[in-house]
Order: sequence, then C-alpha cells, then structure tokens
Amino acid sequence: MKKLLTGLLILSLGAMSAQAEIKKGQKAYLKQCKKCHGNGTKGASMKTQDEWNEAFANEGTVFKSWHKGTKAQKYVSGKKFKKYVPHLKDFLSEYGSDSGNVPSCG
Ligand code: HEC
Repeated sequence: MKKLLTGLLILSLGAMSAQAEIKKGQKAYLKQCKKCHGNGTKGASMKTQDEWNEAFANEGTVFKSWHKGTKAQKYVSGKKFKKYVPHLKDFLSEYGSDSGNVPSCG
C-alpha cells in the first residue's frame, strides 16, 4: 500500500513539473512570439504536435529556417532563444493544431 502511494506521489509530481514546463513555454511565447504571431492559441495551432517537435529538435534548426530573412532571424539565432527552446517546445507541442488542447489563457 505504501509503495502504491509513493508511486502515485511520484507520478503526480511528474505531471506537475510537466505542467510547469508548459507554463514557462507559454510565458516565453507571449513574450517572444506574440507580437508577430498573435496569442498562444493561434500560435500553437500554426503547426501540428509532430511538426513542433521536429521544429525544435537540435536546438531549433528547422524553426530557425522558418525565420531566415525575417525580422526575427537575429532573435532566433541568439542565446536567449536557445534557453527557451525546450520550454517553447513543451508549450507549442502540447497545444499543436492536432492536439485538441487549448491553453487556459493568452
Ligand atoms: C519579428 C517577428 C517574429 C517573431 C518575434 C517570431 N516570428 Fe515566427 N515568423 C515571422 C515571419 C515574418 C515568418 C515567415 C512568414 C510566415 O510564414 O508568416 C515566420 C514564420 C513562422 C512559422 C512558420 C509558419 C509557416 O506557415 O510555416 C512559425 C511556426 C513561427 N514563425 C512561429 C514562431 C514562434 C513560436 C516564435 C517565438 C519563439 C516566433 N515565430 C517569433 C515573424 C516572427
């Protein structure tokens, strides 16, 4: 019984931290992307979950290619963006166009 409870606790802590990562990504999105792509719901639905995962693999190689020659090019090649890549990936893939999920705010 004790083992079961411990297992449940670990599972729910895991879910909580995944949720925290998604929130971080959402914040980053609102700060970094909203001015050009609109709110998070709109932004995340630009791509499917698989497409987002692919875009942010290898520190966002594919993602950067989308912004080549745009005003965002400098930003997406910068250090700040690199730091946010894992969070953005969590948020955007959670709410990709085929996910059926909608972020609660923004
Ligand atoms: C300075 C404005 C700007 C910022 C900031 C910016 N983008 Fe973009 N983005 C563009 C432009 C311009 C394009 C290329 C034209 C287009 O497809 O809309 C583009 C392309 C894209 C595409 C590809 C669209 C397609 O149809 O294939 C996605 C997805 C995307 N951006 C998401 C993001 C995300 C997520 C962020 C935040 C990390 C971000 N962008 C930050 C301007 C911006």
